[in-house]
Amino acid sequence: MDKKKIEILEAKKSEALLGGGERRIESQHKKGKLTARERIHFLLDNGSFEEIGMLVTHRTTDFGMQDQIYLGDGVVTGYGTINGRLVYVFAQDFTVFGGSLSETHAEKICKIMDLAMENKAPIIGLNDSGGARIQEGVRSLGGYADIFYRNTLASGVIPQISAIMGPCAGGAVYSPAITDFILMVENTSYMFVTGPNVVKTVTNEEVTSEELGGASAHSTKSGVTHITASNDIDCIHKIKQLLSYMPQSCEEKPSDLPYDLGEELRPELSNIIPENANQPYEMKEVIEGIVDEGSFFEVHPDYAENIVVGFARLGGRSIGIVANQPMNMAGVLDVNSSKKGARFVRFCDCFNIPLLVLVDVPGFLPGTDQEWNAIITNGAKLLFAFSEATVPRVSLITRKAYGGAYDVMNSKHIGSDMNFAWPSAEIAVMGAKGASEIIFKKEIKNADDPAAKLLEKEQEYADKFAHPYRATSRGFIDEVILPENTRRKLIKAFSMLKNKQKELPKKKHNNLPL
Ligand code: HXC
Repeated sequence: MDKKKIEILEAKKSEALLGGGERRIESQHKKGKLTARERIHFLLDNGSFEEIGMLVTHRTTDFGMQDQIYLGDGVVTGYGTINGRLVYVFAQDFTVFGGSLSETHAEKICKIMDLAMENKAPIIGLNDSGGARIQEGVRSLGGYADIFYRNTLASGVIPQISAIMGPCAGGAVYSPAITDFILMVENTSYMFVTGPNVVKTVTNEEVTSEELGGASAHSTKSGVTHITASNDIDCIHKIKQLLSYMPQSCEEKPSDLPYDLGEELRPELSNIIPENANQPYEMKEVIEGIVDEGSFFEVHPDYAENIVVGFARLGGRSIGIVANQPMNMAGVLDVNSSKKGARFVRFCDCFNIPLLVLVDVPGFLPGTDQEWNAIITNGAKLLFAFSEATVPRVSLITRKAYGGAYDVMNSKHIGSDMNFAWPSAEIAVMGAKGASEIIFKKEIKNADDPAAKLLEKEQEYADKFAHPYRATSRGFIDEVILPENTRRKLIKAFSMLKNKQKELPKKKHNNLPL
């Protein structure tokens, strides 16, 4: 080949590799951020990255843009592997026009999204952008919509992961919002639909970018972000961990790690439930005691802490866990925990990840706040999500399963495959005190000593319902098991269910209570 042409190609590649130039790369480092190329380098297996569209440039001539050409146009796109698995990736380059999205920048992202869909492999977006390229107007807005459309079509087909590693403002937030998981880096990233200046003008509120849309706000208050990371490297590490529990697409199952069943006794599980049924305990201790050592990866750890969701491995198999958390609001279900649980259940069901549900729930949270914030509609989301999930589903009631929450938390009646209970389980319409006050109201009122009568009736009610044997006699619980045998029982149950196939009635799509 013509030597001169090769020289031109090499020069162009070097120029593209430099993105916005040495000085701008330094400015990225000064902010504590890696560059787009560094992020891809740490994310993918060594040497596996193949770039697509390295020499693409924007087509704008307004505002003197024809004189400002950067090869790649502010986004690095391509494919590579993570632990040997094919993934598609884009990383926005803040050093080029603030990573802003031009028409061509969007075309590059859309191209790899299409490839990811056609080849059924996950897509990972590393976002670091000032939003729509202001010089391009509606062409940029159209580019965003092209991405949103593809995000929507890809939902439930391939895993989509978004990491926010810098600004993500305006309508730009809606691409990550449609994807399956959002990670945010503490102190260097923020997401909001309208920034602090607009907020000040419209509502007169004074708020910083960090307060309004930093990692802390979105991991604790809004629940928009599922996972936070202390820096870029930590974020990349967490993306890889998250991905390890997922299959390549909805057409596959997650890969199993090799595992030989051993004795599997876990005596420490017998010491977790307190004698007093009103005393809290740490449900994560139960989870850690059941799953393969060190495999639990919690999602949404700081939001709606009354429910715990996350991935783990059990006997080498990838599972999703949904568990009430007695340590927080006694594990009650409310608006936020119902939404959090429902979204996670639906993700697992999309991608053939079996579900383990640990139940200790006193019911739904009462009050005007909950009713006016639609606990009816939101609680129904969790009920709906479990009811339509066709993956293997196993429940374990550790203590309370009261009222409607008993039904909702993956009961036999809504399609769970195997339901276990510990001897400490209590399955009833409500707690013994509340129930006695209602059904023995007259008897208690007319007694010589109403307080003593109430205690007597409470005991009577508790003797009838504060155990799992009535439910077991009806087949609503398949087996009462000792805590120390739980891990073995669950490994065997999931193994028995591994070829489960279930079809939902034919429909265009459901009408989930949004
Ligand atoms: C073009 C942009 C840009 C944008 C930043 N730059 N945002 N260029 N379009 N949207 C350029 C800057 O001109 C600057 O270029 C370089 O990127 C770095 O920006 P700085 O402002 O110097 O950086 P910093 O101080 O870190 O501030 C970052 C920032 C700020 C907070 C993101 O740049 C900013 O507020 N940008 C505008 C954000 C915005 O309003 N975007 C539109 C949102 S609406 P030079 O050459 O000087 O280095 C939207 C609609 C999407 O996105 C709708 C989809 C449906």
